[in-house]
Amino acid sequence: MIINVTKLHHPLPGSCPMSFDLVLFGGTGDLTWRKIMPALLQAFRHCKLPPGGRVLAVARDERSDDEYRAFIKERFAAVEASKRPSDEEFARFAEMLHYRRMDLSQPEHYAGLKAWVDERGADTVVLFLATSPYLFPVICEQLGAAGLNGPNARVVLEKPLGHDLKSAQTINRVVASAFREEQALRIDHYLGKPAVQNVMALRFGNALFEPLWRRESIANIQITLAEDIGVGTRGDFYDKTGALRDMIQNHALQLLTMIAMEPPPSGDADAIRDEKLKVLKSLKPFTPESVARDVVRGQYKAGSVGGQPVPGYLDEVKVPVGSRCETFVALRTEVQNWRWAGVPFYLRTGKRLAERDSHIVVNFRDVPHPIFPGTRQANKLVIKLQPEDGLELHLLAVKGSGGNELLSPVSLDLDFDRAFPSERVGGYERLLLDALAGRLNLFVRSDEQEQAWRWVEPVLQAWASDPTGPRPYSAGGWGPAAASAMVARDGCTWAEEQ
Ligand code: BG6
Repeated sequence: MIINVTKLHHPLPGSCPMSFDLVLFGGTGDLTWRKIMPALLQAFRHCKLPPGGRVLAVARDERSDDEYRAFIKERFAAVEASKRPSDEEFARFAEMLHYRRMDLSQPEHYAGLKAWVDERGADTVVLFLATSPYLFPVICEQLGAAGLNGPNARVVLEKPLGHDLKSAQTINRVVASAFREEQALRIDHYLGKPAVQNVMALRFGNALFEPLWRRESIANIQITLAEDIGVGTRGDFYDKTGALRDMIQNHALQLLTMIAMEPPPSGDADAIRDEKLKVLKSLKPFTPESVARDVVRGQYKAGSVGGQPVPGYLDEVKVPVGSRCETFVALRTEVQNWRWAGVPFYLRTGKRLAERDSHIVVNFRDVPHPIFPGTRQANKLVIKLQPEDGLELHLLAVKGSGGNELLSPVSLDLDFDRAFPSERVGGYERLLLDALAGRLNLFVRSDEQEQAWRWVEPVLQAWASDPTGPRPYSAGGWGPAAASAMVARDGCTWAEEQ
């Protein structure tokens, strides 16, 4: 069937729009050139972008389209080689890039933007706020006032979405005054990672694990998001944020919801998000006593990562003298419902740890009655998020012959990059394409986001009144010893200690 593109004025729900305008607020900013432009280029390479789409970057300074294209081309020199375009490829890609100077507080500048968008009448207009979150309220108000919130518009909001419950609610209120909930797409870039989507596939596309996915069979679950990098040049931002707000409130909790949620009645975005919200509401609330017992915060000292000496957090650029900001968090929680009652969920994240390694370990219970000598905890499922993307199922088996009945650990390994070569889509690329197509499954709903803040707030409050501050740990290790002691209380160890 041949579709006459010019006659289709409304996007088909959930399908890729026939034509689009993508407006990038913060068009010269870090996020734009580090993440969004490389993702757009990848989508362009993969021929996933509908032809004739336009990208309009807006920022404060005066530039022509050509000057903006040259600026982006120069920035591509900083991205990894495989994502860097040749001159010829960049020239074709850059045809869709445009630039407009905007003062975000000026209503007439939004009127100009509206005229630019209207002259085309694209099926879908995506307004991507890649700016500081302090600007979200003013931008959303002005977009609404200028009539840039029509039914074909969507607004994409990048984290951090607030720094506590109150500020998140304020942002959500302003967004809601201009856009309907289904027009507001909150990005948690972890949800764009193929490995994270595979958690859903593993649980709800396969019947194998479901009978075991409960307290009767699972001893504990560990979610680790470890980074070897430090805070780099982001010291001023990071110091106001800290690991709890930066990684736990969003990325780690989103992973936890996917592991713990009940099977949704359908694959619809709201069916999934309703179940994730129930998990967040079932998390055991923190008290000052449980924060002291079940949450460990740390801050890296100088050390060595990958054989290279690295400075401590307090010596990083733009970090205030004597900062008490945490660069590491490990915590223990429980999901208080019938499926999970009593099963510890351990979450852990940190900067300047031994290696970049993000994974989820599902530790199964021991055999009820051991008949093999020296048997130890046998079964675990390791969901590897990065740098590798795969699954490992750990079993015990007899290694040798000759009557040796000592069991040895062995694992079934699945490497998704090898299983699906050349078909993997990067996280940001996936989220951008979903934003253009209006697929909401991988975006966070306002109630989920607020509930996550509600849950972390008692921790922030307890820390604010605790004079002891974060525990120092050496860069290049696995965080403060107290994190190991916390899991050891339950008779557990972290994956790297096993
Ligand atoms: C961001 C945090 O959300 O996630 C950063 O603000 C962190 O501090 C980054 O480094 C980690 O993302 P990834 O995809 O590299 O694991």
